[in-house]
Amino acid sequence: MTFLKHSTELFPNSYRAVSRGKRFGGFCKLRFLQWVFLLAALFLTYFATFGVNIFSHGDLDSRVLLLREVHHGTPIVVKQPSKHRKQYHPCEIRLLDSVNGLVEPKDFTNFTQFSLDYIEKEDKPFRSNNFEPRFGGHQTIQEREKSFYAANQTLHCGFVKGPPGLSSTLFDLDENDKAYMNTCVIVVSSCIFGSTDYLRRPDRRMISEYSKKNVCFVMFVDKQTLSTLSSDGNIPNDRGYMGLWRIVVVRNLPYKDMRKTGKVPKFLAHRLFPSSRYSIWLDSKLRLIADPMLIIEYFLWRTRSEYAISNHYERHCVWEEVLRNKRLNKYNHTAIDEQFAVYQSDGLTVFDPEDPNTPLPSYVPEGSFIIRAHTPMSNLFSCLWFNEVDRFTSRDQLSFAYTYLKLRRMNPDKPFHLNMFKDCERRATAKTLKHRLLSSPSTT
Ligand SMILES: *[C@@H]1O[C@H](CO)[C@@H](O)[C@H](O)[C@H]1NC(C)=O
Ligand SMILES: *[C@@H]1O[C@H](CO)[C@@H](O)[C@H](O)[C@H]1NC(C)=O
Ligand SMILES: *[C@@H]1O[C@H](CO)[C@@H](O)[C@H](O)[C@H]1NC(C)=O
Repeated sequence: MTFLKHSTELFPNSYRAVSRGKRFGGFCKLRFLQWVFLLAALFLTYFATFGVNIFSHGDLDSRVLLLREVHHGTPIVVKQPSKHRKQYHPCEIRLLDSVNGLVEPKDFTNFTQFSLDYIEKEDKPFRSNNFEPRFGGHQTIQEREKSFYAANQTLHCGFVKGPPGLSSTLFDLDENDKAYMNTCVIVVSSCIFGSTDYLRRPDRRMISEYSKKNVCFVMFVDKQTLSTLSSDGNIPNDRGYMGLWRIVVVRNLPYKDMRKTGKVPKFLAHRLFPSSRYSIWLDSKLRLIADPMLIIEYFLWRTRSEYAISNHYERHCVWEEVLRNKRLNKYNHTAIDEQFAVYQSDGLTVFDPEDPNTPLPSYVPEGSFIIRAHTPMSNLFSCLWFNEVDRFTSRDQLSFAYTYLKLRRMNPDKPFHLNMFKDCERRATAKTLKHRLLSSPSTT
């Protein structure tokens, strides 16, 4: 045990007492030594107890160990820098000063063109007794493979209804909300399902009058979250708004896993807002602190991109992310392994930062903030990514690189303009706040 190794060095005072005892000559030398022995024994007992306590109660996670300094006998706190939680800061980004005079670049729509249709309903297969309608449908492996071609096609992309009679349509919305959502051209959206977060309102001072008038800010919630928010004092006004957010209540959630349900508005803005041309997705732990039009200009128009997402602030390799997810018990390990076996057998390789031809700056996204133009490639990528989450785990950072690389591989002559930016740039436009609830393995 570590403390025993040090225990002999832990008594500089009694050691000094011995040498002092020598200077006292014959005077009570024996009794003095007995006292010293007794004191030493007491000290030893004390340290045996206290020392053990230091190490058994020592919470390694607090990353602080109490050590007793040998020479002065004063306790000091030693921080272990390697394990110390890092601070992440925003970096300075040059957003335009104002939305005045801002226009979409003329050649901006010059992206890969094709047309996508979506499977609206599935019929019960002939002679099938236990057919369960699924929100994501029942996509076969062959259909999945074909769906990656950037060509006119009809594919699964959520919102799949079952046959009449069996169909309880899922992710159900109020007709008024639907009518409103049909009018949206530029959307900022977020969601809270299962009361996992507080309501984070966009910083109004940073939002232009133009955006307040022309951008739809939509917060999807379930009934439970709505009542939790109400008990926090957040009650929608008679038009259904809390500040800039229009609160849209979703009934009949498509998945038991709230994290999976959250991926519906996250990936499928182009389906929820059929007239929309741009969308910004914001996890509920983020507060928007910049104007949405300036965000679109900076992340999409300026870089001629149709899809923008930040990289992870720390990890670049999906294998590392897998280990991390398992270590933190973020999801059923078997399900993660199954997903990864499929990805590896279909060509997913380890991220190589040395490779100058690597198609992405990182294979792990920080997917809490996504800026999209609703172009065919961008919509296709969103559907494909959603389908991976629907088929496998809800941990979308595990399927991002695979989906992207496969889409690129299968369409070598059809560019997809994806801008993977730095997480510090995200922090400059959307601030990270704490979740209300720590996610449990069953809900992540
Ligand atoms: C549009 O893109 C194509 C290829 O991606 C390019 O050849 C063409 O010059 C572009 N047109 C404009 C107006 O930028
Ligand atoms: C794809 O769809 C578009 C629009 O519906 C159509 O104009 C085009 O001819 C189609 N392309 C092919 C190759 O079928
Ligand atoms: C974990 O996932 C595997 C494979 O998907 C499944 O068979 C198993 O029931 C899951 N375990 C739990 C506890 O959900």
